[in-house]
Amino acid sequence: MKPSVSDHIARIVPYPAGKPIEELEREYGICGSIKLASNENPLGPSPKATQAIVSAMSKLNRYPDGSGFYLRKKLAEKHGLPFESILLGNGSNEIIELVIRAFMAPGDEVMMPSPSFLLYQLVVQWMGGRPVAIPLREDLGIDLDKMAQAVSAKTKVIFLTNPNNPTGKVIARADFEAFLQKIPQSVAVVLDEAYIEFSTNPDTPRGFDYIGAKGPTVIVLRTFSKAYGLAGLRIGFGAMDPEVAGFLNRVRQPFNTNSLAQAAAVGALDDDEFLSLTQQTTWNGLEFLYKEIEKMGLAYVPSEANFFLIEVPCQARELFEAMLRRGVIIRSMASYGMERFIRISAGLPEENMRFIEALRQALAQIGQIDSSREGEPPVPGRRVPSGAKSR
Ligand SMILES: Cc1ncc(COP(=O)(O)O)c(C=O)c1O
Repeated sequence: MKPSVSDHIARIVPYPAGKPIEELEREYGICGSIKLASNENPLGPSPKATQAIVSAMSKLNRYPDGSGFYLRKKLAEKHGLPFESILLGNGSNEIIELVIRAFMAPGDEVMMPSPSFLLYQLVVQWMGGRPVAIPLREDLGIDLDKMAQAVSAKTKVIFLTNPNNPTGKVIARADFEAFLQKIPQSVAVVLDEAYIEFSTNPDTPRGFDYIGAKGPTVIVLRTFSKAYGLAGLRIGFGAMDPEVAGFLNRVRQPFNTNSLAQAAAVGALDDDEFLSLTQQTTWNGLEFLYKEIEKMGLAYVPSEANFFLIEVPCQARELFEAMLRRGVIIRSMASYGMERFIRISAGLPEENMRFIEALRQALAQIGQIDSSREGEPPVPGRRVPSGAKSR
């Protein structure tokens, strides 16, 4: 007899992670593949982070510093925040989990835009809460008005993703501030800024400005997985009012972040040159990709992050498979309910060129128009969501 599992667990659809390069090469017997599927840093980790890891290795017989003193101190100084307001996580994913564990009881509601990062809904489901997913506006922006209207006495946490994943769109500062005024003090507003280092928009809020301000509690999430190139180590942090950090601290594992990750993150924070190179590589990559996608007559969504959405003239899953066969891993947006969109992150120049070449070949092989779209006008003339650009 198997142990019984509650319905809310049995119903969960596991998180569809980006396919690892090693898995693709094992399954298809190929080598030299590239991955543009998980919004990672194509440059690798910063050399200063690597050096810090090597120095920390000799102390691996010891438990890590469970309080993460040096990294929190550095982050507090860098961002002008009190030391006690910083909480480290095993990736910012873990902070998402801690927020829900601390503030949501079974049966409570947690709100998020849809589509946005899938993990918010999953964690709420794990813990027996009710995810309230509010669709994006027609222009693919987060519908803050609808979200404010949907708040109920059961709402405990609201997630906002800025820039949003998968659209790459940002929230306007004035809209965010107007939104905060409508939200009750009893609700925690989480501003997930996993991609904020890539945004060049001066008119979008920076979450740190709202910590400890009047209004509802704002919790800011940041990660070392994207601009800082440390996705494999799992290190992120949350910044919030120290009292709120104290609640999250009560529900975390004592050694939630490992010593190599802490050391590497300290090293990465010292490497401004690497951060600038990452930003410039990303912006140049996006510019190149936008132009090439336009040349192909496809619609795309201009982004403030290190990835963007492309509307494709076939089922995204089919294209995903065709790209795999060419050694290129992209993300099908079917699991986000966007059957005809793919998401790709900006890679190195040679990776971007290879992606475009593989996309041309894959679309030619698929024949572009699939049977469920018969009778519709050809791709360039087809209506695209108002948030997307086409020639
Ligand atoms: C919006 C958003 N938040 C958080 C994360 C998780 O980042 P981490 O690697 O720090 O757990 C991701 C990862 O893709 C993301 O897209």
